[in-house]
Amino acid sequence: SPQQTSEPIAYSRNFGEVDEYADVDWDNIGFGVLPTDYMYIMKCSKDENFEKGQLNPYGNVEISPAAGVLNYGQGLYEGTKAQRTGDGRLLLFRPDQNAIRMRQGAERLCMRAPSVDQFVDAVKQIARANKRWTPPPGKGSLYIRPLLMGSGPILGLAPAPEYTFLIFASPVGNYFKEGIAPLNLYVETEYDRASPGGAGGVKSITNYAPVLKAITRAKNRGFSDVLYLDSVNKKILEEVSSCNIFIVKNNVISTPSTAGTILSGITRKSVIEIARDHGYQVKERVIPVNELIEADEVFCTGTAVGVAPVGSITYQHKRVEFRVGGDQSVSSELYSTLVGIQTGVIEDKKGWIIGI
Ligand code: COI
Repeated sequence: SPQQTSEPIAYSRNFGEVDEYADVDWDNIGFGVLPTDYMYIMKCSKDENFEKGQLNPYGNVEISPAAGVLNYGQGLYEGTKAQRTGDGRLLLFRPDQNAIRMRQGAERLCMRAPSVDQFVDAVKQIARANKRWTPPPGKGSLYIRPLLMGSGPILGLAPAPEYTFLIFASPVGNYFKEGIAPLNLYVETEYDRASPGGAGGVKSITNYAPVLKAITRAKNRGFSDVLYLDSVNKKILEEVSSCNIFIVKNNVISTPSTAGTILSGITRKSVIEIARDHGYQVKERVIPVNELIEADEVFCTGTAVGVAPVGSITYQHKRVEFRVGGDQSVSSELYSTLVGIQTGVIEDKKGWIIGI
């Protein structure tokens, strides 16, 4: 199992008061791994609850070759971000929702999971401890990646005897190399992302390696990412490899309903709520792929991606282009409000923000 490489880091070091910045070219961060100062580790056996975790220096972990996660994919991941404000605070966005989603995933994959309080406390610690790696306001965010894995050895197919909850963090800018330019999506008709009764609705690590082939092929052809259809009839929109999808027609916003095969994105549900507050009708429903042809606007949402406009979608060799209305678009209106709340520029009336 991952080794705890050192003594716990004493809290008296007051991470939160270290205000200098790490040596990073803040204007040129994409979405990659930059090793930061600390990671968080907490373990428990399959018959216990998680009790106490600790911050360790960031580094490699040691793991049994027979670990459940390595052999049978018993693993979940999450993603959340910390933003730095102009007055030097850090803001977390709805980490309790990541905690709840991880617990749902753990139930599906027969794993122990941290409580919501343990999860949120650990996210706060990792953000504070890596504060100097959080980009200046407007330059990006500190991406926080919680992992839950079956770390104990197991040979027969069964839940692992030990679980490890680990969090690391990395400063990030834009997810796509296109930056904020509209995405060009490719509708995949050969490979599926998820199927009814599978684990597509939770953030299992097993949902991600199987789409690499489709993504790689699409990227080699110049597309930004892949849009998946339902695996049964290949007629209904599901989601993009890295984000959820929305379409707009006559000012009505629609997004595929999360009925087990679609990840319940935290940005997705926040954008739905913001859109309703702004007076839009939002429908979570079955969306036939053919509706893309008629759409006025299409956009994607995700923690890593933010709210990204879609410029074109290619389906069965036909390319449909969408209006990308800049400041006038529905997506940019919703994104400004979302980012405003996340960065503390717009007052958070929803209890979404935790300031640390
Ligand atoms: C996120 O948006 O945080 C995700 O977990 C998606 C991942 C493919 C980067």
